[in-house]
Amino acid sequence: MQEGFVIWFTGLSGSGKTTLAKEVERLLRARGLRYVQRLDGDVVRQDLTRDLGFSKEDRDENIHRVTFVAELLSKNGVATTCAFISPYRAARQTARRRCHNFVEVYVQCPLDVLIQRDPKGLYKKALAGEIKGFTGIDDPYETPEHPEIVVHTDRETVEESTLRLLALLEEKGLIPTANENTASAQVPAGEGR
Ligand SMILES: Nc1ncnc2c1ncn2[C@@H]1O[C@H](COP(=O)(O)OP(=O)(O)O)[C@@H](O)[C@H]1O
Ligand SMILES: [Mg+2]
Repeated sequence: MQEGFVIWFTGLSGSGKTTLAKEVERLLRARGLRYVQRLDGDVVRQDLTRDLGFSKEDRDENIHRVTFVAELLSKNGVATTCAFISPYRAARQTARRRCHNFVEVYVQCPLDVLIQRDPKGLYKKALAGEIKGFTGIDDPYETPEHPEIVVHTDRETVEESTLRLLALLEEKGLIPTANENTASAQVPAGEGR
């Protein structure tokens, strides 16, 4: 059976968690992994945790529920990617303890670059005080202390970050090494949410 694991992307809004998780998902399939599932805050918050907001309690509950799902998936051989701001260290620590083969990826990007990127216009609103409790502006983000890998999305391309991550998964024996039959170019970009 395929070895299950969890790649947990944490970082500020707009840092690149969703972008990287989608690309990793595509590359894992290209490596021949059949069971791959992405859990993404943008999606999960419209469904599994649609009743929750952004208070500390609700953020913790959001991560608690997602951890439950990631634990089940990873223990049953699924390559699971999680893309959540997950600003609180203790909640990430719990996820680490419960999930099988937990790999924490700190998606790092300076705030001034994020404010410039602002793909959803959220920083503009947060800076104008129209959104309260926005992580990095007027809500805390607890930096990972011992992530398995840090990616710097202001100075690395998506390809550079994802290839470094895949190399780490190879090193850990969680995925097969690349070979000519599974060249990523043969697999089209995934659709889906
Ligand atoms: N090296 C990079 N890695 C990831 N995203 C990048 C990078 N450079 C620029 N971007 C852009 O930054 C934005 C990140 O948005 P997104 O992935 O939705 O972030 P998040 O899910 O962390 O909120 C996208 O518009 C993406 O194209
Ligand atoms: Mg996202």
